[in-house]
Amino acid sequence: MPGRLEGKVAIITGAGSGFGRGIAQKFVDEGAKVVVAELSKESGEKAAAELNSKYVATDVTKRESWQNLLEQTLETYGQLDIVVNNAGASYSNKPTGEVTDAEFDLCMNVNVKSIYLSTSVVVPYFLANNRPGSFIQISSTAAIRPRPGLTWYNASKGAVGIANKTMAVEYGPKNIRFNCVCPVVGSTGMTHLFLGKPDTEENRAAFVSTVPLGRPSTPADIANACCYLASDEAAFITGVNLEVDGGRCV
Ligand SMILES: NC(=O)c1ccc[n+]([C@@H]2O[C@H](COP(=O)([O-])OP(=O)(O)OC[C@H]3O[C@@H](n4cnc5c(N)ncnc54)[C@H](O)[C@@H]3O)[C@@H](O)[C@H]2O)c1
Repeated sequence: MPGRLEGKVAIITGAGSGFGRGIAQKFVDEGAKVVVAELSKESGEKAAAELNSKYVATDVTKRESWQNLLEQTLETYGQLDIVVNNAGASYSNKPTGEVTDAEFDLCMNVNVKSIYLSTSVVVPYFLANNRPGSFIQISSTAAIRPRPGLTWYNASKGAVGIANKTMAVEYGPKNIRFNCVCPVVGSTGMTHLFLGKPDTEENRAAFVSTVPLGRPSTPADIANACCYLASDEAAFITGVNLEVDGGRCV
């Protein structure tokens, strides 16, 4: 049986760890060629070696970085079909009045500007080549049902959701799809920031107690949702916020 993503090429940002690493694994398992676009050289190279994929040193907040990423993807694999905007950043949970300008800028640059740049660079490639395309933004339940202490992280994910819907309607006629996946808390490199304390089972318990299915999300949960949205099975799905949250947002 061919994989569900056979013949497709995907860029996955932040694929060196956490959800991104899980998404890269699933995409490779389903037959896609994957480009690991990662700021951390160490984790990016490691992931690419393990997955027999291509690593491209990337800072998603920089236009030149996206231009280089597209060029290297086309040079290596000859085409591009899917972009998963997964790389994200946050400050540590704290009272909103204590957030610094640098922390605000970090959230907006890594979580929002990255999506502006990815579409600004990649959409013209899809249009010029008359190719269908699929963008998947890793948003958050924070965009739908925010918790206190993360105002500007939550707002950045809210911006992602509305930009995503706007582009879905704008580029639908060109068969370029835009979808968001909204994870509930998982256990990754960012989790201690959301909790405002170390990521232990005990510290996660208060968050998890509000999840009807009774556990945190895993990279495999997020990867399975991304695989569906990236595949041809989702050919008629665009502009959605797919909550992968064990019922948290109900
Ligand atoms: N962990 C959670 O509980 C949770 C919940 C909801 C949403 N999310 C979202 O999931 C996504 C993935 O985060 P994660 O939880 O796997 O955390 P993570 O820290 O394990 O992974 C994030 C990756 O992004 C990379 N990265 C950061 N800045 C970058 C940049 N400028 N350019 C390129 N790469 C960069 C990091 O090096 C890291 O490998 C983020 O968008 C995050 O907001 C996480």
